Amino acid sequence: MTNIAIVTGASSGLGAKIVQQLAEGAFGPLDQIWSVSRRAERTSPRVRPFALDLTDPVSFDVLERSLSEAPGARVALLVNNAGFGTFGDFADMPAADNANMVRLLMLAPVELTYRTLPYMAAGSRILNVASVAAFMPQPGLATYSAAKRFVLDFSRALDAELGSVGIHVTALCPKFMRTGFLDHAGADDVAADMAGLTGFEDVERVARLALGAAREGRALCIPSADMRAFYVAAKLLPYPLVLNLERALMNLGEMRGSKRVP
Ligand SMILES: NC(=O)c1ccc[n+]([C@@H]2O[C@H](COP(=O)([O-])OP(=O)(O)OC[C@H]3O[C@@H](n4cnc5c(N)ncnc54)[C@H](OP(=O)(O)O)[C@@H]3O)[C@@H](O)[C@H]2O)c1
Repeated sequence: MTNIAIVTGASSGLGAKIVQQLAEGAFGPLDQIWSVSRRAERTSPRVRPFALDLTDPVSFDVLERSLSEAPGARVALLVNNAGFGTFGDFADMPAADNANMVRLLMLAPVELTYRTLPYMAAGSRILNVASVAAFMPQPGLATYSAAKRFVLDFSRALDAELGSVGIHVTALCPKFMRTGFLDHAGADDVAADMAGLTGFEDVERVARLALGAAREGRALCIPSADMRAFYVAAKLLPYPLVLNLERALMNLGEMRGSKRVP
């Protein structure tokens, strides 16, 4: 049997950290770690790089064929992590960005889950990287937050479906992390405003907590306490109220941020 973990978006940020921790044994013994992203390199002997663009459906065929060719392939862990977000008003955004967010954040996890499930068994795990942006609709991040909501709901429903066969799905909801994600247009400014209030997540800690939650078969992992409170508030309070509160906090963060810049 070949015990395999598949990690998408493995070339930087959270995905790279997850691959590193998997190689160090954070998820128990694995024969191979398949790292999938457009830039891909072998970072340890057990890492098998796949240079694939997950907005291209052919990439799913490549991975499915590779699984069928691996002797006794068993997918112990699938991490759907690849993603990017473009910040700003929907109408001003490049159409390609919106379409690619939909393909990468929603279609890719669905396709990869569907194609890897036949290679899973009791004890296998799926870790889907959502975001705190999933907790409520986010103006200025309309497509991204809706796509992350999809990831959150898809994960929770799938976990309830697959639990009876011993396969669990974890939705991970981190807040801002200092990764390549912030290089996208507008993201740095918004992150600076919010992080002025809430701070950034530590990527290493998020990876560790996420893998721990997946190992334990927990359906939801929200690494920071303030965002767990936000999750509850967004569920209990009317949307316009939470939105106004969020806007007020953003303005406060902006004011604090502008004080730091001479
Ligand atoms: N950073 C944050 O503040 C934050 C907060 C909440 C949630 N998240 C989520 O966390 C996940 C990881 O992001 P990150 O923060 O680690 O950002 P990152 O450093 O930019 O990593 C994104 C990864 O996705 C890969 N990727 C992007 N487009 C791809 C494509 N078309 N095909 C295949 N791979 C692709 C990138 O690799 P290549 O460029 O080599 O393809 C890279 O490895 C994302 O789902 C993001 O939405 C991030």
